Amino acid sequence: MVSSSSSLTIASSHSFFSNDRSLPSLNPIAPSLALPAIRSSALAVTSRSKGRRCLIRRMSVSKGDGSETAPSDMIFGPILEDGVFRFDCSVEHRKAAFPSVSFKNSKDREVPIPSHIVPAFTPTYSLLEEQQVVTFQFSPGTSFYGTGEVGGQLERTGKRVFTWNTDAWGYGPGTTSLYQSHPWVLVVLPTGETLGVLADTTRKCEIDLRKEGVIRIISPPSYPIITFGPFSTPTAVLQSLSHAVGTVFMPPKWALGYHQCRWSYMSGKRVAEIAQTFRDKKIPSDVIWMDIDYMDGFRCFTFDKERFPDPSALAKHLHNNGFKAIWMLDPGIKQEEGFDVYDSGSKNNVWVKGADGEPFIGEVWPGPCVFPDYTNSKARSWWANLVKDFISNGVDGIWNDMNEPAVFKVVTKTMPENNIHRGDDELGGVQYHSHYHNVYGMLMARSTYEGMELADKNKRPFVLTRAGFIGSQRYAATWTGDNLSTWEHLHMSISMVLQLGLSGQPLSGPDIGGFAGNATPRLFGRWMGVGAMFPFCRGHSEAGTDDHEPWSFGEECEEVCRAALKRRYQLLPHFYTLFYIAHTTGAPVATPIFFADPKDSRLRTIENAFLLGSLLIHASTLSNQGSHELQPILPRGTWLRFDFEDSHPDLPTLYLQG
Ligand code: NOJ
Repeated sequence: MVSSSSSLTIASSHSFFSNDRSLPSLNPIAPSLALPAIRSSALAVTSRSKGRRCLIRRMSVSKGDGSETAPSDMIFGPILEDGVFRFDCSVEHRKAAFPSVSFKNSKDREVPIPSHIVPAFTPTYSLLEEQQVVTFQFSPGTSFYGTGEVGGQLERTGKRVFTWNTDAWGYGPGTTSLYQSHPWVLVVLPTGETLGVLADTTRKCEIDLRKEGVIRIISPPSYPIITFGPFSTPTAVLQSLSHAVGTVFMPPKWALGYHQCRWSYMSGKRVAEIAQTFRDKKIPSDVIWMDIDYMDGFRCFTFDKERFPDPSALAKHLHNNGFKAIWMLDPGIKQEEGFDVYDSGSKNNVWVKGADGEPFIGEVWPGPCVFPDYTNSKARSWWANLVKDFISNGVDGIWNDMNEPAVFKVVTKTMPENNIHRGDDELGGVQYHSHYHNVYGMLMARSTYEGMELADKNKRPFVLTRAGFIGSQRYAATWTGDNLSTWEHLHMSISMVLQLGLSGQPLSGPDIGGFAGNATPRLFGRWMGVGAMFPFCRGHSEAGTDDHEPWSFGEECEEVCRAALKRRYQLLPHFYTLFYIAHTTGAPVATPIFFADPKDSRLRTIENAFLLGSLLIHASTLSNQGSHELQPILPRGTWLRFDFEDSHPDLPTLYLQG
């Protein structure tokens, strides 16, 4: 950690975008943002804009257990809107907190608003081995959700996660850090009232939910806690969260269709064959994906001259057949003089630096690579301009992969924590990688999204990112990374999609069929059955696996996939409407079924059913039982079963709310 007195100057061959010979100092703490004065230890009153009254209160807190010291100066006050509160350990900690990267408008976190509501729940603070520990205590019967992209059970009591974006190939239900970071817990109280707790830090953060009713958050100081609610419904909490961290970008309608991917379709010819097979077999699909092998030696922004000789012609062919084409761009840029992207990045001095002040070199697919410093606006605009030019090849969407960032051949699987980013002041300034690690992928997605906007401001961009942070939904969709072709992963994929939705990211889906390993016909059909009802619907599989297209598993499975995807296309107006609502209001798209009745505790742990608005999807994730053999637990009220005259045990059953 950078100590508050340190100021590090490192000699380098280039400084950022200028010819100075030194790096700027690392910002020890964020610039202190205007704060209302605290006048008394009990209650501070300040008047800000338009003479309205805004409150920041100071409160004593109880001492923690023996080893912990308890600061007794916690302050809190309303921000953003009624029912939203910011808590800080003390006035000094508030001053020292870094700017928010999660908030759409980071100033919203700093400006107190007038409100007469008092918080229903307040945390206690303590310091433990130089970590800021924040604890909330709720009554028994409280259920926890959120914490972003996590495997395992839907209801999170008993679990612990660490926010640290990680390339997590083949993760399992107990893996504690996946590709994305959402330091956020959705708390459903026994009454059904719901509250959200955000630890607004980009740093590694432990979220410990192992004790019933207790949230314990542990991360380096100083970071604020923001609480949203309690409000009467979970949807209201997510809407309130979205006022802070933004809503999902409005996806183009085609992006809600079926996407076909594999690592990799090895030539333009193979891509055209796949597209044609969808049409010949009358299986609905809108999008074909190009994984890394389209590139010339894994050099981003290039095309292999033999296998993808004319990308524009390929795109035109696909467009004529009603397909869109999405192409991968990774952050690792091959370190090779003469490669124009490398040369231009070096000239513009955009690479993340090592502790020695020289561009950091790490190994990824192309061998030794450098990494754009997306924390800096000039580097982002350099990247966005490359994206803009790349789009002119007929590119419809971009897939940002490996952006945790993943680095091969090192135990940490990422770059050293003491690498140096020359971040914008409003993001936190010059900082070590440990500060920006969790937002690197989100800022890459942002820059890619901005590049697509530059290319055509009248077209909605579509970006998929593997790494993300709370707030990434403003720029990109996501998928649940390198899962396995197993029944456990099929089951887990439902909770993972729901959990991301409960953490602000409504546009997600798994690799349908599983990424690693080979699916069986039954597993593939079942996964397509439920996957066709997920917000983002894409089949994908790893290099070296058997073919995993909908027709690869025999006639019966092909029929199941066709029926599943026809359902999706019949429901496309409904999906599109749900996304419009998500984009405009922050309501999630797919939700756990307790959203229909938050008071009903029976519904809170159901993992094989979910809601798409008033539509309930009930799926079997058991290999030996079809969906028709299961007895669903439905929310109270009128729920009528219907189908599209396509019933098959591998397709989920559908219910509509009266
Ligand atoms: C890792 C990604 O998670 C996977 O989806 C992709 O196919 C490979 N990288 C190759 O690009």
